[in-house]
Amino acid sequence: MEFQAQQLRDASRVVVFSGAGLSAESGIPTFRDALSGLRERFDPAALATAQAFRNDPALVWGWYEWRRAKALAAQPNAAHLAITKLATRVPTLTVVTQNVDDLLERAGCPEVLHLHGSLGSPRCFACARAYAIKDDQPDESEQGRSIEPPRCLHCNGKVRPGVVWFGESLPDDVWRKALAAVKKCDVLLSVGTSGLVQPAAELPRIALKHGAQVVHINVQPELVVENREFSLVGRAAEVLPKLVEQAFG
Ligand code: OAD
Repeated sequence: MEFQAQQLRDASRVVVFSGAGLSAESGIPTFRDALSGLRERFDPAALATAQAFRNDPALVWGWYEWRRAKALAAQPNAAHLAITKLATRVPTLTVVTQNVDDLLERAGCPEVLHLHGSLGSPRCFACARAYAIKDDQPDESEQGRSIEPPRCLHCNGKVRPGVVWFGESLPDDVWRKALAAVKKCDVLLSVGTSGLVQPAAELPRIALKHGAQVVHINVQPELVVENREFSLVGRAAEVLPKLVEQAFG
């Protein structure tokens, strides 16, 4: 059975749950792609942990500065814009993202729940105070370059990226809001995520369990197990605008 645009039109509560694939066509490498160039030299997960930062803060800060530069240089794509359009068409839309860029906000999306934090909001590794990062353009040319992290203005601790690392908890309020929306939604659109990282990856399953229809939009086909689950195979920037267009014109 295929997912019908009509089902989206009839929904009153919709959740968009996105992963790095949403921003892939804006030129931001997905999490796994971003690591691939470094794979021969570094253990991938070892760049995204507090321990990695303790071991080699300049390597980790440099890698995130490279990703921040990529995000700053990128523009929202047709999928981000389709989500913004959807927000104006359905009675309640909740956008939950694992993405650490701000392309959804820059596309005009009203409220975005960032489960994994954000590249633009670093904080002190020691005292956790926010650090106002300069909005200058970091160097995006070199992926493996070490850069010394700046120092906290209050305690002189090292400043860390404002993202959630492996082994860390998700921001509690964000997770609670996401969970509440997912449990109540009629339709959940899961866009460009590999579904490998917990607990975020549970969200589509929780929506299914609570009776929602779940639509996976990905360049890779998703193995669907329930009759309320659908797989739309293709690039987010093509599939999502088409779906929104079919549903709302
Ligand atoms: P991944 O890099 O794991 O997966 C990207 C997904 O997007 C894959 O399933 C691709 O098939 C799909 N994809 C790629 N290009 C696409 C396109 N143009 N259109 C649609 N789909 C496309 O990224 P995430 O699932 O976001 O967490 O990874 C989850 C988390 O893993 C990240 O947030 C990050 C990492 O650990 C943290 O940093 C805590």
